[in-house]
Amino acid sequence: NTDPVAYIRQTIRSVPDWPKPGVTFRDITPVLQDPRSFRVLVDLFVYRYMRQRLDLVAGIDARGFILGSVLAYELNLGFVPVRKQGKLPHRTLSEDYSLEYGNAAVEMHDDAVKPGQRVLLIDDLIATGGTMLAATKLLQRLGANVVEAACIIDLPELKGSETITATGLPVYSVCQF
Ligand code: PRP
Ligand code: HPA
Repeated sequence: NTDPVAYIRQTIRSVPDWPKPGVTFRDITPVLQDPRSFRVLVDLFVYRYMRQRLDLVAGIDARGFILGSVLAYELNLGFVPVRKQGKLPHRTLSEDYSLEYGNAAVEMHDDAVKPGQRVLLIDDLIATGGTMLAATKLLQRLGANVVEAACIIDLPELKGSETITATGLPVYSVCQF
Protein backbone atom coordinates (compact mmCIF):
# COMPACT_ATOMS: atom_id res chain seq x y z
CA ASN A 1 0.00 0.00 0.00
CA THR A 2 1.53 3.29 -1.13
CA ASP A 3 -1.10 5.69 0.26
CA PRO A 4 0.54 7.15 3.38
CA VAL A 5 -2.77 7.95 5.09
CA ALA A 6 -4.11 4.41 4.53
CA TYR A 7 -0.80 3.02 5.79
CA ILE A 8 -1.00 5.06 9.01
CA ARG A 9 -4.68 4.28 9.51
CA GLN A 10 -4.17 0.54 9.23
CA THR A 11 -1.21 0.65 11.62
CA ILE A 12 -3.27 2.26 14.41
CA ARG A 13 -4.45 -0.41 16.85
CA SER A 14 -8.06 -0.45 17.99
CA VAL A 15 -8.43 -1.84 21.50
CA PRO A 16 -12.02 -2.80 22.37
CA ASP A 17 -13.42 -2.03 25.82
CA TRP A 18 -10.52 0.13 27.00
CA PRO A 19 -10.34 2.07 29.28
CA LYS A 20 -13.85 0.79 29.97
CA PRO A 21 -16.57 -1.38 28.41
CA GLY A 22 -18.05 0.04 25.22
CA VAL A 23 -15.09 2.32 24.40
CA THR A 24 -12.73 1.44 21.55
CA PHE A 25 -9.32 2.97 22.21
CA ARG A 26 -7.32 4.08 19.15
CA ASP A 27 -3.73 3.29 20.06
CA ILE A 28 -0.89 5.01 18.15
CA THR A 29 1.95 3.04 19.76
CA PRO A 30 2.25 0.62 16.78
CA VAL A 31 2.69 3.64 14.47
CA LEU A 32 5.51 4.98 16.64
CA GLN A 33 7.13 1.58 17.10
CA ASP A 34 7.51 0.85 13.38
CA PRO A 35 10.25 3.09 11.91
CA ARG A 36 8.60 3.23 8.49
CA SER A 37 5.17 4.34 9.70
CA PHE A 38 6.70 6.78 12.19
CA ARG A 39 8.64 8.44 9.37
CA VAL A 40 5.60 8.46 7.04
CA LEU A 41 3.56 10.08 9.82
CA VAL A 42 6.12 12.77 10.65
CA ASP A 43 6.67 13.51 6.94
CA LEU A 44 2.93 14.08 6.37
CA PHE A 45 3.08 16.87 8.94
CA VAL A 46 6.43 18.20 7.72
CA TYR A 47 5.13 18.63 4.15
CA ARG A 48 1.87 20.17 5.35
CA TYR A 49 3.54 22.79 7.53
CA MET A 50 6.94 23.45 5.90
CA ARG A 51 5.65 26.47 3.94
CA GLN A 52 3.42 27.94 6.65
CA ARG A 53 6.01 30.24 8.23
CA LEU A 54 5.31 28.89 11.70
CA ASP A 55 7.22 30.15 14.73
CA LEU A 56 6.50 27.40 17.24
CA VAL A 57 4.94 24.01 17.72
CA ALA A 58 2.88 23.55 20.91
CA GLY A 59 2.29 19.92 21.91
CA ILE A 60 -0.25 18.65 24.41
CA ASP A 61 0.68 16.43 27.36
CA ALA A 62 1.45 13.58 26.91
CA ARG A 63 1.08 12.06 23.45
CA GLY A 64 1.20 15.42 21.71
CA PHE A 65 4.82 15.71 22.87
CA ILE A 66 5.95 12.72 20.81
CA LEU A 67 4.91 14.04 17.42
CA GLY A 68 5.15 17.73 18.30
CA SER A 69 8.79 17.69 19.33
CA VAL A 70 9.92 15.72 16.27
CA LEU A 71 7.95 18.03 13.99
CA ALA A 72 9.40 21.15 15.63
CA TYR A 73 12.91 19.74 15.21
CA GLU A 74 12.34 18.87 11.54
CA LEU A 75 10.85 22.32 10.80
CA ASN A 76 13.60 24.12 12.71
CA LEU A 77 11.08 25.54 15.18
CA GLY A 78 10.91 25.77 18.94
CA PHE A 79 8.67 23.45 20.92
CA VAL A 80 6.49 24.44 23.87
CA PRO A 81 4.66 21.96 26.10
CA VAL A 82 1.04 22.41 27.13
CA ARG A 83 1.04 20.44 30.37
CA LYS A 84 -1.42 18.92 32.76
CA GLN A 85 -1.88 20.87 35.99
CA GLY A 86 0.98 21.15 38.44
CA LYS A 87 3.89 20.09 36.22
CA LEU A 88 5.45 23.38 35.13
CA PRO A 89 7.89 25.07 37.54
CA HIS A 90 7.78 28.72 36.48
CA ARG A 91 4.85 31.23 36.33
CA THR A 92 1.91 29.57 34.59
CA LEU A 93 -1.42 30.32 32.99
CA SER A 94 -4.16 27.74 33.46
CA GLU A 95 -7.35 26.76 31.61
CA ASP A 96 -9.95 24.37 32.98
CA TYR A 97 -11.82 21.92 30.79
CA SER A 98 -14.36 19.25 31.52
CA LEU A 99 -13.79 15.53 31.31
CA GLU A 100 -16.44 12.82 31.31
CA TYR A 101 -16.16 12.75 35.09
CA GLY A 102 -15.05 16.01 36.67
CA ASN A 103 -12.57 18.59 35.51
CA ALA A 104 -8.97 18.96 34.48
CA ALA A 105 -6.68 21.84 33.61
CA VAL A 106 -3.87 22.49 31.19
CA GLU A 107 -1.08 24.96 31.84
CA MET A 108 1.63 26.84 30.00
CA HIS A 109 4.48 29.02 31.14
CA ASP A 110 3.47 32.65 30.77
CA ASP A 111 6.62 33.37 28.72
CA ALA A 112 6.26 30.36 26.40
CA VAL A 113 4.91 32.36 23.47
CA LYS A 114 5.42 35.96 22.33
CA PRO A 115 2.45 37.98 21.05
CA GLY A 116 1.88 37.47 17.33
CA GLN A 117 3.87 34.24 17.04
CA ARG A 118 2.38 31.73 14.62
CA VAL A 119 1.81 28.54 16.54
CA LEU A 120 0.78 25.06 15.43
CA LEU A 121 -1.07 23.16 18.16
CA ILE A 122 -0.69 19.39 18.03
CA ASP A 123 -1.99 16.32 19.85
CA ASP A 124 -2.49 12.65 19.02
CA LEU A 125 -6.29 12.67 18.98
CA ILE A 126 -9.39 14.86 19.11
CA ALA A 127 -12.38 13.36 20.91
CA THR A 128 -14.68 15.99 22.48
CA GLY A 129 -12.17 18.71 21.58
CA GLY A 130 -12.06 19.99 25.17
CA THR A 131 -8.31 19.58 25.53
CA MET A 132 -7.48 21.31 22.23
CA LEU A 133 -9.90 24.16 22.99
CA ALA A 134 -8.42 24.75 26.45
CA ALA A 135 -4.90 24.73 24.97
CA THR A 136 -6.01 27.17 22.26
CA LYS A 137 -7.39 29.55 24.88
CA LEU A 138 -4.09 29.47 26.77
CA LEU A 139 -2.13 30.22 23.61
CA GLN A 140 -4.50 33.03 22.64
CA ARG A 141 -4.29 34.57 26.14
CA LEU A 142 -0.53 34.81 25.50
CA GLY A 143 -1.23 36.59 22.22
CA ALA A 144 -0.36 33.67 19.96
CA ASN A 145 -1.76 33.34 16.46
CA VAL A 146 -2.87 29.70 16.55
CA VAL A 147 -2.68 28.64 12.90
CA GLU A 148 -4.20 25.16 13.07
CA ALA A 149 -5.10 22.37 15.49
CA ALA A 150 -3.50 19.18 14.16
CA CYS A 151 -3.89 15.60 15.24
CA ILE A 152 -3.32 12.08 13.98
CA ILE A 153 -6.83 10.85 14.75
CA ASP A 154 -10.21 12.54 14.80
CA LEU A 155 -13.30 10.87 16.24
CA PRO A 156 -15.90 12.85 14.24
CA GLU A 157 -18.92 11.30 16.00
CA LEU A 158 -17.88 13.14 19.16
CA LYS A 159 -18.02 16.43 17.22
CA GLY A 160 -14.88 17.87 18.82
CA SER A 161 -13.30 18.85 15.51
CA GLU A 162 -16.61 20.44 14.46
CA THR A 163 -16.68 22.50 17.66
CA ILE A 164 -13.08 23.62 17.16
CA THR A 165 -13.67 24.55 13.52
CA ALA A 166 -16.76 26.54 14.58
CA THR A 167 -14.52 28.79 16.71
CA GLY A 168 -12.64 29.74 13.54
CA LEU A 169 -9.61 27.53 14.13
CA PRO A 170 -8.88 25.11 11.26
CA VAL A 171 -8.45 21.45 12.20
CA TYR A 172 -6.26 18.90 10.41
CA SER A 173 -6.45 15.18 11.11
CA VAL A 174 -4.52 12.45 9.29
CA CYS A 175 -7.38 9.97 9.66
CA GLN A 176 -10.76 9.52 11.23
CA PHE A 177 -12.44 6.66 13.11
C1 PRP B 1 -6.36 12.12 25.42
C2 PRP B 1 -5.76 12.50 24.09
C3 PRP B 1 -6.08 13.96 23.99
C4 PRP B 1 -7.42 14.07 24.70
C5 PRP B 1 -8.54 14.14 23.71
O1 PRP B 1 -5.48 12.44 26.45
O2 PRP B 1 -4.36 12.25 24.04
O3 PRP B 1 -5.11 14.77 24.65
O4 PRP B 1 -7.56 12.88 25.50
O5 PRP B 1 -9.79 14.21 24.35
P1 PRP B 1 -10.78 15.45 24.19
O6 PRP B 1 -10.79 15.84 22.74
O7 PRP B 1 -12.11 14.88 24.61
O8 PRP B 1 -10.32 16.54 25.08
P2 PRP B 1 -5.76 12.10 27.98
O9 PRP B 1 -6.59 13.18 28.60
O10 PRP B 1 -6.29 10.70 28.05
O11 PRP B 1 -4.35 12.25 28.66
P3 PRP B 1 -2.94 11.45 28.53
O12 PRP B 1 -2.28 11.96 27.25
O13 PRP B 1 -2.19 11.90 29.73
O14 PRP B 1 -3.24 9.99 28.47
N1 HPA C 1 -7.33 6.98 21.92
C1 HPA C 1 -6.48 7.81 22.51
N2 HPA C 1 -6.86 8.79 23.29
C2 HPA C 1 -8.16 8.97 23.48
C3 HPA C 1 -9.12 8.16 22.88
C4 HPA C 1 -8.69 7.09 22.06
O1 HPA C 1 -9.46 6.34 21.47
N3 HPA C 1 -10.34 8.61 23.25
C5 HPA C 1 -10.11 9.68 24.05
N4 HPA C 1 -8.82 9.91 24.18
